Amino acid sequence: MLIQRYFETRLELIENALKSYLSFDNIYSKNLIEAMRYTVFSGGKRWRPLLTIAVYEMLTNPRKNSDLSDIIKAACALELIHNASLIHDDLPQVNDRKDRRGNQSCHRKFGHATAIMAADALYTIAFEVIAGLSDPKKALTGVRMLSDYCKTYGMIGGQAVDLLNKRKVMKLNTLRFIDLKKTGSLLEAAADLACLIAETDAETRQLMINYTQNLGYAYQIIEDIIEDYNRSGDDLDFSQDFIPTSKSSYTGLMGFDKARHAGEKLLLECTKIIRPYPNNDILNEFIQMIQERLP
Ligand code: IPE
Ligand code: IPE
Repeated sequence: MLIQRYFETRLELIENALKSYLSFDNIYSKNLIEAMRYTVFSGGKRWRPLLTIAVYEMLTNPRKNSDLSDIIKAACALELIHNASLIHDDLPQVNDRKDRRGNQSCHRKFGHATAIMAADALYTIAFEVIAGLSDPKKALTGVRMLSDYCKTYGMIGGQAVDLLNKRKVMKLNTLRFIDLKKTGSLLEAAADLACLIAETDAETRQLMINYTQNLGYAYQIIEDIIEDYNRSGDDLDFSQDFIPTSKSSYTGLMGFDKARHAGEKLLLECTKIIRPYPNNDILNEFIQMIQERLP
C-alpha cells in the first residue's frame, strides 16, 4: 500500500474511534463535552496513535480487513491522554499558553474550571477505552501500563520536573530527563501497548520502546534546531556566530553541530532497530519525516 494511503486510512480509523468515544450527550454538561471535543478535534497530528498502530502492524503484518479494533483502542487512549495533558499544561498556573494548534487554548475559550474538568474527563475516558480491550488480561495490563506511563515517574513526573526548572538554566541531563519523561513516556507507551496487543517477547518489546523513545528524543532535539534556525535565517553560519534562543535548549547546551549530530545519531539508531523487520516501511517513514525537518 502506498505510504500516503496508509496514513490516510489509519487516520480515518483514529478519527472515527475518537468521535465514537466522545459521541455522548448530556444536557447538564453540554459545555464540558463541547470543551472536550473542541480540544480533541482541533488539528492534532496524531503521532502517538499513528505510531501505536504502525508498530503493531509492523510486528504482526496483518492482512487487509484484519481486526484492528484493539490496537485502535490503545492508540486512541494515548491520544485522549495527550489531549488532556495539553489542556492542563496550557493553564495559566502551568505554562500559560493562550493558543494551541492555532486556536484559543481550551481554558481561554471555555474558562478555567471547565478546562480543568474537560481534561479530567478525557483522562478518565482514556482508561475506560483501554479497559475495553477484548482480552480481559490484556485490558488489565493495559490499564496498569497506561497508568505507569502517565503518573509520577512518567509524563506527569516529567511535567513536574519541567515546572520546577522553568526559570533556571538547566543542565543537559535535566533537559533530557524532562523530555524523555514528559513527551517520551507516551511514546514508550505507544510501543509497549502495541507489543502487549501483538503478544511479542520481552526483547522485541524493549527494541520497540527504544525505537519510539529515540524517535521522540530526536524530534525534540530537531525542534530546538529548527527554532533557532527560523529565528536566525538561512544565511547564518552556525559554527561562527550562533547564539541560541534559550540556554535551556539542546542547541543552547550542546551547540548547533553537536545537537544536529545527536539528533542524526538517534535516528540512525532507530533505522538499525527496525532494519531486520521485513514490513518496516511505515516506521522508516516516521524516521524520514523527522530527518527531513532538519534545516
Ligand atoms: C506537542 O505534541 C506537545 C508535546 C508533547 C511536546 P504534538 O506536537 O504531538 O502535538 P499535537 O497533538 O500534534 O498538537
Ligand atoms: C506539552 O508539553 C505537555 C506535555 C507533554 C505533558 P510542552 O509544553 O513541551 O509542549 P508545547 O510547547 O506546549 O506544545
